[in-house]
Amino acid sequence: MNNAVAGFSKLSKEEKISWIADTYFSNPSEAISLLKNYWNTDQNLQKLHDEFIENTITNFYLPLGIAPNFLVNGKYYTIPMAIEESSVVAAAAKSAKFWSTRGGFKATVLNTEKIGQVHFIFKGDPEKLKAFFSQNKSKFFSDTEHLTKNMQQRGGGISDIELRDKSAALPDYFQLHATFETKDSMGANFINSCLEQFAKTLKEKAVAFEAFSETEKNIQVVMSILSNYVPNCLVRAEVSCPIEALAEKSIENPQEFAEKFVRAVQIAEVEPYRAVTHNKGIMNGIDAVVLATGNDFRAIEAAVHAYASKSGQYSSLSHAKIENGIFYFWMEIPLALGTVGGLTSLHPLVKFALQMLEKPSAKELMQIVATAGLAQNFAALRSLTTTGIQEGHMKMHLNNILNQFEATDEERSAVKKHFKIYAVSHSAVVNLISELRK
Ligand code: MEV
Repeated sequence: MNNAVAGFSKLSKEEKISWIADTYFSNPSEAISLLKNYWNTDQNLQKLHDEFIENTITNFYLPLGIAPNFLVNGKYYTIPMAIEESSVVAAAAKSAKFWSTRGGFKATVLNTEKIGQVHFIFKGDPEKLKAFFSQNKSKFFSDTEHLTKNMQQRGGGISDIELRDKSAALPDYFQLHATFETKDSMGANFINSCLEQFAKTLKEKAVAFEAFSETEKNIQVVMSILSNYVPNCLVRAEVSCPIEALAEKSIENPQEFAEKFVRAVQIAEVEPYRAVTHNKGIMNGIDAVVLATGNDFRAIEAAVHAYASKSGQYSSLSHAKIENGIFYFWMEIPLALGTVGGLTSLHPLVKFALQMLEKPSAKELMQIVATAGLAQNFAALRSLTTTGIQEGHMKMHLNNILNQFEATDEERSAVKKHFKIYAVSHSAVVNLISELRK
C-alpha cells in the first residue's frame, strides 16, 4: 500500500488525525478518541503545545517525578525529573537522602565557554588568509554589535574569534572558531545568529581584500553553526566521607563496600562496554532534570559522550578513590544549560520546575544537574555491587505489570503482599495474577 501523503502540514489538526486513523487503524474512531483523550481541556494550553512543533496531533506524556532532600553546597533542593524509567526517581531520592547526612554534594562550575564555527573553503595562500583575518578581526565584532548588545549588558558576548587552518585534515578547509559567554541562556540562537553574520562579513571583506587573487576572494562558506561539544563548559560534582561513615543497614562492611565500589568505577574507566552502561546510568539522572527544566537533552547527550571519549577511548565520566580512610566519588562533565529563553519561558511545567528550584542561574542549574547524575551513578553502583540491580528494578516494575493486567485493588494488595517475601520476576507476577483470577 502506498501511504505517501501530499501537503500533510497544510491539513487541519482534525484532518491530520483522520488521515492517520483511516490509513493505519482498523478502528479509526478508537484511534481518534485515544489521541483526543490526551488533548488538554484548556484550549489555550493545548494551542501552546500544538505550536511548539510542526504537525502536532496530541501530547505525549512523561511522568514528572520529584527527588527531594538534595543537599548541594549546603542548600536543600527538591529536584524535578521527567522520565519514564521506573526506578530512576526512587534511586535519586535514596542517594540524596544518603548523602544529606554525610556532608551533602559539592558542585563547582569550572568554566562556561560555548563554541561556534564558520566552516569555509579557501583556495589559496594561507599566509594571505592570516593577514586578511588579522586586518579584519575587529570587523567581525563590530558587524555583530546589533546582536551582542543585549548579551553584553548581561555580561556575556563573543569572547574571541580565531582563524583555524584545518587544511591538513581536508584540502582548503578553514574555520572561524569563536568562543562565547551566554550567561543564563543556553545561547544557541545567539551563537548561530552571530556566526551567520561572521559568514557574511567574511565573504564581503574577502571580496574587498586587495591582496587576494580572484580565486582567493571567492570564499565558500559551507556552514555556520554552534558546536554542541563544550569541553570548557564544565561542572564538577563530588561527595566524600570517612569510610566508616558509609555504614548503614545495607552497608554492613563499609571498607569492603568502598573498595568494591572503587573497583566498579575503575572497571568503567578501562572497559568501554561497561563505561557506556555506567554513563547511561549517569544520564538517567541528567536527562530527567534537563528535560524537566526545558533544556535540550540531545545536545547534552552529544556533548557528554564526546567528552567521555576525549582520551581516544570511551571511558567512565565518574571517578572514585580511597585516600587516608576517606571515600571520594566525583565527576566532571560538560553541561551547556540555560534558565532563560527557549522553552524556559514557554512551557508551564518547565516554569514550575524552575520555580521549585528557586529560579536558578544557569551555573546553579549546571551544579544541580551534575549532582543528579552523580547521585544516580552512586545509586546504580551501590545496587550493582551489593544486592544487584534487579531487586529494586523489579519492585518498581511490579506496578507496571499490574497496570498492564489492569489489576483490581484487591489483586494489587495480594500481589504486593506476596512479593514482599518472594523475588519479583515478570513470569512470577503473571502466574500469581492468573492464579488469583482462577
Ligand atoms: C539502568 O537504566 C542504568 C544502569 O544499568 C546503570 C549502571 O549499570 O550503572 C543500572
